[in-house]
Amino acid sequence: MSEKIKITIDGIECEAEAGEYVLNIARANDIFIPAICYLTNCSPTLACRLCLVEADGKQVYACNAKAKDGMSIVTVTENIIKERRAIMEVYDVNHPLECGVCDQSGECELQNYTLEMKVDEQHYAIRDTYRPVKKWNYIHYDSSLCIVCERCVTVCKDMIGDAALKTVPRGGDKLDKSWKDTMPKDAYAMWNKLQKSIIGATTGEELDCTWCGECISVCPVGALVSEDYHYTTNSWELTKIPATCAHCSAACHLYYETKHTSIENPEPKIYRVTNEFHYQPLCGAGRFGFDFENRAEKDPKAFEAAIEAFKRADTIKFSSYITNEEALILQKLKEKYGYKLVNEDALRFKKFLDSYAEYSGQSLPSADVKAVHKSNFVISVGTALKSDNPRVRFAFNNAIKMNKGGGIYFHPIKDPVIEALGKTLVPVYHKPGAEEAVLYFILENFADHEALPKYIREYLDSLRETRTKEVEETIKEKVKETVKEKVVDEETGEEKVVTKEVEKEVPKKITKTVEYTISKLYDMVDASEDLLEKLKKVLDKRERSTLILGEDLYTHPRAENIAKLAGLIDRFTDFEVLLIPPKTNSLGVALICDLDEEAGEYTIGYNVKGDFTLSALGDGDLDMPALNQQEGTFTNIDKRVVPTNVALPYKGYVLNDIARALGVSDKEYTIEFTKELPQEKGYKAIEFDDLPNEFLNDGTEQRGYVLETHKVNLSRKNVEPIAELPEFNGTVIYRCEPVLQFSPFTNKAHQLATTAKLYASETFMQEMGLAEGDKVNIKKDDTNITVEVELDDKIGSGAYVGTFDPSVDTSALFAGYRFTEVTIQKV
Ligand code: SF4
Ligand code: SF4
Ligand code: FES
Repeated sequence: MSEKIKITIDGIECEAEAGEYVLNIARANDIFIPAICYLTNCSPTLACRLCLVEADGKQVYACNAKAKDGMSIVTVTENIIKERRAIMEVYDVNHPLECGVCDQSGECELQNYTLEMKVDEQHYAIRDTYRPVKKWNYIHYDSSLCIVCERCVTVCKDMIGDAALKTVPRGGDKLDKSWKDTMPKDAYAMWNKLQKSIIGATTGEELDCTWCGECISVCPVGALVSEDYHYTTNSWELTKIPATCAHCSAACHLYYETKHTSIENPEPKIYRVTNEFHYQPLCGAGRFGFDFENRAEKDPKAFEAAIEAFKRADTIKFSSYITNEEALILQKLKEKYGYKLVNEDALRFKKFLDSYAEYSGQSLPSADVKAVHKSNFVISVGTALKSDNPRVRFAFNNAIKMNKGGGIYFHPIKDPVIEALGKTLVPVYHKPGAEEAVLYFILENFADHEALPKYIREYLDSLRETRTKEVEETIKEKVKETVKEKVVDEETGEEKVVTKEVEKEVPKKITKTVEYTISKLYDMVDASEDLLEKLKKVLDKRERSTLILGEDLYTHPRAENIAKLAGLIDRFTDFEVLLIPPKTNSLGVALICDLDEEAGEYTIGYNVKGDFTLSALGDGDLDMPALNQQEGTFTNIDKRVVPTNVALPYKGYVLNDIARALGVSDKEYTIEFTKELPQEKGYKAIEFDDLPNEFLNDGTEQRGYVLETHKVNLSRKNVEPIAELPEFNGTVIYRCEPVLQFSPFTNKAHQLATTAKLYASETFMQEMGLAEGDKVNIKKDDTNITVEVELDDKIGSGAYVGTFDPSVDTSALFAGYRFTEVTIQKV
């Protein structure tokens, strides 16, 4: 626990933790200190120097000055005013006067601080140099607008983990030396640096990254903007709608920013998505995949047909891209009419969660994403983190960078992006299926063995064996040496040289065979025997640890046993456990609905194909609203019930209309169900309109509420030993979405739309004799799909196909587990 201290800022007493940055303490206490370059949760770079303050009489930068008990901070002095004003004048030197059309105008920090520092005259000047515009895929960079605050560089390195941007030489004129003597010191230093740099890609001309767009979000001026948004509107014309990203289970906070489509078309349109970058990053799917709405009108005939279909159906099959309230409506339909509710991903997740809970003793996982941010040791198992849940990847990176942490990434597919997060992150690439052994490996190395149930301890003991190895050792060997020595003859007094033999010790390297004990688990998971030795430095400083578990485990043939092991890890190690729900609202559906294994004879499909299909993709028998057209809540990875809002109107029917027609609902609006979500599962009786959706200045997340976790009776059932699985031979592929895709909804967005491919690593393509653009048949049993091959240079081995393109049904290739054996033939 950090020590609590007190400091005063401009006479206001503030409580803080020892070592916190003064700027963060000020912000948490609603005290304004000007600052451009600093980003919360990232390292201070001192690029702007605006945050100059006086601490106990000495000038320091608030963004990197660590608070000490009793410290007295003054935020404004005569000199500080002079420095800040000069800094803003310098920022304005040669800044193009194009505010009238600039995308950032109206929310530009350069404009704001220029006014704040009362810059009404310019004292500085220098010849301008040509600064180019770059188009990097989704990103437009205008270096003439760039103030080189380096926020983009910092966020990409410390938060996202791609480190794709850096400062590069600008070729600007050198400052005249006389400025040094005549202008305020910090303003001169900042100007000197500013003249030298612009921003470039670390890989050369082209930017090579995972396209989160967080650099756009953090840019205080109009230098980095979304190519799609560039020059489409003025920012002040947009309506900011606080909502929740509907693409994955992180369910991040975001704003849909809307305005009428055009002068002729008053219909609202989403122009862009923004996020509270100081508190929560957003990935590229959330940022660029926003227009997945379903524009539909009421079709009474289709509605009547839907009611008839419901009367006939015995099953409702649905995806987890629905709100908690819709899940509750489906459950109520089941309770009244006995429908089977079928949702494979949520059912698997629920079973995993139940088994985990019986062994951890808690109804819900112990960790949230914040726990990862705060950890200094993180292990990830069973998830292609980069694609499955980008925010968890960002948190893992942030823990490595900001807490000087480290960790292990267990997965069968090599991932150079994950490897690049830091040298203290060691990847262990195991065979598909070895995940059960990986969890035993964690118990072996991190559990309190004395506290473990006896049979587990004995099993772990049985896996240890004695091996021998050759080690080099330096010993001291006695050798005899003949030395010459001058002696004085006692009789004659003359000096003479005599030879004598002396014994001395010299170091000698020998190789010897030693015995040592090691667990066979190292071999089973393909970990090198010195794995923990490599991590010794971070392990020695380990204070808080998180274990991230993902969908490979929920779909694993041994999922139940793996879940029990996860529960044991929670109980008998100091790891907190984070489970990544496979889809946006898998956790909500798992908690709210009583799910069934098998579908019956006649199926209503909701966002999946059924005999009668309700679809928010606009491809069914009755249209439904997409999740950017709905009010409601999701239950996210943080066990948080987060609200989302309507960004775009929807004129068709909603699930509540069907429930009303079938006598299951008497509510006018779907959100009237929010307060009725099941309290025995941890939900609270709170009205939708009373749910907050914001972050406080100190970073506190005030979004909805966190589910109550309750105690679960510990199970006496036995955890089983590792099962022998059939080996994966031949060609193995993985079910995974490419970066920026999650589902048909991301693929519907105009910036992300693409067709399904076989995404292959270079090694896979070489082994299979494939080239980019080749068409291949992927065959398993009776399923046969034809797709193009695309090189994914962001994986280092293997190949995968996704489920995001409804025109290519890959689901039948995977009977559960995410790795599957197929045959691949060039067409
Ligand atoms: S592009 Fe924007 S965020 Fe990056 S250095 Fe320039 S002004 Fe700062
Ligand atoms: S889009 Fe994301 S990964 Fe790419 S440069 Fe910007 S911050 Fe870095
Ligand atoms: S915010 Fe402290 S130097 Fe820029």
